[in-house]
Formats: sequence, C-alpha cells, structure tokens
Amino acid sequence: MNTPISKKINIQKVDKSRIDQVDFDKLVFGNVFSDHMFECDFKDGVWQNPTIKAYGPLTISPAAKVFHYGQAVFEGMKAFKDEEDKVWLFRPDQNAKRINKSAARLAIPEFPEDLFFEALTTLVSMDREWVRKGPGNSLYIRPFVFATQAGVGASPSTEYKFMILMSPAQAYYTGDIQVEIAEHYSRSANGGVGAAKAAGNYAAQFFPTNLARERGFQQIIWTDASTHEYLEEAGTMNVFFRVNDTLLTAPISDRILDGVTRKSVIDLAKRDNIAVEERRVLVSEIVEAAKNGSLKEIFGAGTAAVISPISAFSFQNKTYEIEKQEDSFAAKFKKELTDIQRNLSEDPFGWRFEV
Ligand code: COI
Repeated sequence: MNTPISKKINIQKVDKSRIDQVDFDKLVFGNVFSDHMFECDFKDGVWQNPTIKAYGPLTISPAAKVFHYGQAVFEGMKAFKDEEDKVWLFRPDQNAKRINKSAARLAIPEFPEDLFFEALTTLVSMDREWVRKGPGNSLYIRPFVFATQAGVGASPSTEYKFMILMSPAQAYYTGDIQVEIAEHYSRSANGGVGAAKAAGNYAAQFFPTNLARERGFQQIIWTDASTHEYLEEAGTMNVFFRVNDTLLTAPISDRILDGVTRKSVIDLAKRDNIAVEERRVLVSEIVEAAKNGSLKEIFGAGTAAVISPISAFSFQNKTYEIEKQEDSFAAKFKKELTDIQRNLSEDPFGWRFEV
C-alpha cells in the first residue's frame, strides 16, 4: 500500500530503513524501535509543527518540567498484520480518548483526536514492514506527552511535546506468572491519579515490585489503599478472577485504569454467556475460594500483556497454586481476542481499524 500523503504533517522519510538489523525472533519487549517517530509541540497555546521523522534522540532542556515534576502521560496500543498483509489497529479510538482523559488529570492540554489519528495511521503506514504477521507478533505503539517548558517552578508547564514511537513486539510475559497481593505499599488512592496512565504511576511501582521479585513474584496485585482488603489491578494489567464459572473484576474507579483489553474481555464474556461481575473483590474471598477449590483461574488483561495467566498468588507469606483448567477462560479469551485483532475471525464489535 502507498504511504498516504498527509496534508498537515511534515514528513521526513529516512533514506534507509534499519529493519535489516533487527532479529524479529529475539525481540525483548520495548527495546527496538521502528524507523520513524511522530512529534508535535505545544507552544503559545497551540499544538504545532506535527512532524514524522527518523527515530532518534531529542534535544531538551535539563530544566524541562517533566524531569522535575513528572508531568507526563502515555498510551499503549498495537498494530497487527493479517495473512494478506493488511495492517489493523485495535480499538484506537479508545486510546485517543484515554490519553486526553489522562492528560486532563495531569493538567496537560488535550491533543486533537483527528491529528492523533492522522499521525498514527500515517506513521503505521510508513513503517508497515515493521508489523510482522503470525501468532504473538505485533507492533507495540507508544503515544506519550510530556512537559518541556524549562523551569523548576512547581506549576503546570506551558509547553509540551506529544510523540508516538513504535516497537515490534512478541509476548510481554513468557509463560505463567506468579503474583503477590500487596498489603503494605499502594498503587493509588481515592482522588489520586490511578485511573490516568501517568508515567509516575509506573515508576512508583518499581520499588515494591523489585521487592516482590526478590521473593520470586513477577507482579503485585494491588489492593485498595485505605483497607488493603479489596483487590484492584496489577501494575501492567487489569486482573480477572474466575470463581467457579463466574468472572470477577474490580470496577473502574479513580484508582483503576479503564483498560481496553479489560473492557474487551468483559464484552467477549457477555457475548459468550459467561457471568461477569464488576464489583469490589475481597482478598479474603479469593483466599477462601483458593482453599475450597472454587478459584479456577486468575489472569491479567492488558495491551502489552494481552491475556496473561497467573499460576499462583501469595498472601501473607502463603502461596496458593492455581491448577490449570482444561476449559481455561484465559486461553479462550486470548484466542477470541487475538483472532479478532489479527483478522482471523469476524469482528462483531467493530473493534478492528484498517490502516
Ligand atoms: C500496556 O499494556 O500498554 C501498558 O501500558 C503496560 C506497560 C507498562 C507495558
């Protein structure tokens, strides 16, 4: 397909692609970037100079407010290639809206949705060779916006940069994961920024997650900050619990990210006549279900993580193993979701968007 000519975006195409230097069979998540990136600056109250150019370093003041106050938000989305070399995005409208919701919470100006789409589709078209087909392959897309005004006064920046990078990806987690349920540290609080995809939400999880890693767990399932009695989400994904044949997941709140994969799983479950309860889930209820055998599965759902089965959880130093199910919901949703994403099945929900 020809690269669409953009009326608005200044396009500086690379002379030579770097794609030959990439071993697509040995990708580490998020370490390799495609040939081009998009950038657009907010100055004097307007987004200006939208440009697609070679992926590469930026020149930025060390006093830029993002370095001092963490005024930055991001998105995660993916492009897929089908067997006929058509390239598809998955529910991109959701990301266009959510980045602006996150931005509003961090006092960052809204990015125009039409420009978001134009930048995204032009960039993906230009680097479509970087989208590999086949199971597990995708092009991970990272839109983000950060404060660039130089100055250490603690007030919102007057200048920002919006960018999109793209990174060929395979699985984020290889194999099942084991998690620890948090009792001491918290991810978010009422009235906080938990529902925003704020960069700092992720930084704040690194230290407690490292501690959990030392004890052999890859992730933490966070509990509510006020009582630590209710299960919320894991830092890189929302979490579902299957008790008997009912799926439980925490409701969206100002502490929980409104995950695109989360809401897609809920829609798939409803279509498949699987009972889903979006409600507060007690830690004690899941521990009890693990003890009496009614806890059949726990899995995470996220753009990077897709659907990631959790094979064990630990609470108060006791580890509960979860037996593999022959009729695994996680496996079923993963197949249904990725088949839609990769154009291997009908798309009754209208989630696919061809680039
Ligand atoms: C995503 O799934 O896109 C995320 O943003 C998680 C990220 C920490 C890899």
